[in-house]
Amino acid sequence: MRRAVDIVDGLGVDELMLAAIDATRSTYPHPNPRVGAVIVTPDHTVLSLGVCHGDGLAHAETTALDALSDSSLAKGATAIVTLEPCSHQGRTPPCTDALINAGIAKVVVGAVDPDPRVSGSGIRRLSEAGVEVLTGIANEAVIAADPAYFHHRQFGIPRVTLKMAATLDGQAAALDGTSQWITSAEARDDVHRLRSENDAVLVGAGTVIADDPSLTVRRDGYEGPQPLPIVVVGNREIPRESKVMERDPLMYGLETQGSVDLAEMLKDLGSRGIMSVLVEGGPTLARSFVTSGTVDSFVWYVAAKLAAGTGFPAIAGRFESIAEALDLIVVDVQMVGPDIRVTAVPTEGSA
Ligand SMILES: NC(=O)c1ccc[n+]([C@@H]2O[C@H](COP(=O)([O-])OP(=O)(O)OC[C@H]3O[C@@H](n4cnc5c(N)ncnc54)[C@H](OP(=O)(O)O)[C@@H]3O)[C@@H](O)[C@H]2O)c1
Repeated sequence: MRRAVDIVDGLGVDELMLAAIDATRSTYPHPNPRVGAVIVTPDHTVLSLGVCHGDGLAHAETTALDALSDSSLAKGATAIVTLEPCSHQGRTPPCTDALINAGIAKVVVGAVDPDPRVSGSGIRRLSEAGVEVLTGIANEAVIAADPAYFHHRQFGIPRVTLKMAATLDGQAAALDGTSQWITSAEARDDVHRLRSENDAVLVGAGTVIADDPSLTVRRDGYEGPQPLPIVVVGNREIPRESKVMERDPLMYGLETQGSVDLAEMLKDLGSRGIMSVLVEGGPTLARSFVTSGTVDSFVWYVAAKLAAGTGFPAIAGRFESIAEALDLIVVDVQMVGPDIRVTAVPTEGSA
């Protein structure tokens, strides 16, 4: 954020940008991006703050303009916007035009929009209208606040997070199929938080049959949308009375009767506007995802428990030689109640 302090008149633009990013954290606009906007006077007195709350609702810039106590305050003001304002007519009018028509003199952009319908054209439109534009002052922070949006727009497929809960010695379930509960109530609540951050939650037939999960977010005070349930099946019948079936899940594998090509499935999910998927299946599905190189992030709950024997290891299949191991970069380690949560990403080229 040093560059922002260097290039922007006066102090505080970096903090204002972070405040705008922070304001987006509790919003659920997917398949649109999380965007926040702050309108300030030239000496950085805050006039208003806006976010886009949901798909099809008013964008952050319009919300911030509407929140001004007097619309004339926009004349000569600065808008600090986390993402490049859109310049195309979607379900809402272009934000560039709303800012220009309101008389905003300067726009500070956190990150350029990777969406090809916008990417640079919003900035161009503002500049051509005589608005001063500063861009890309908080790229990393903006991407970190909504990684799925950037991933989806860049690659056309959802960002995949694989979650697994295992004993300290790596067992995901006992031989009799029981795995409830390996981890603590705190860790399970944390999984519900993860669900709330993803557009979809995906399991394999084995998990539906063994655990009968509903795959919903159940957390105190949670009012956001429920993730779309997705089930991957091979040859087995899924019981009709399963809780997840009541939620009309997206099913893959019914026609192929055997093996689902996960890369193709992700392309299909991407085309449906699904930007993030949490894989919560068992060891077989985890193996399919890991070997297909489609996992972007691993979230591993290491329980304060020893299986002290072999049941179902967290990932199925054989580990023949050390050269087969996937190298990871651990990006975060946290205690969650009595358990440990490890977040890791594949090293470049290992996925
Ligand atoms: N500790 C944890 O975090 C955790 C999480 C979930 C489940 N579990 C436990 O894991 C056990 C279930 O393990 P599991 O490995 O059977 O569950 P799973 O991985 O969720 O489901 C496996 C099944 O999914 C289908 N499948 C997976 N990949 C496929 C692909 N690429 N194409 C087509 N079908 C595919 C196959 O269905 P077909 O059999 O129809 O071919 C496969 O047998 C249970 O004991 C459960 O309690 C533990």
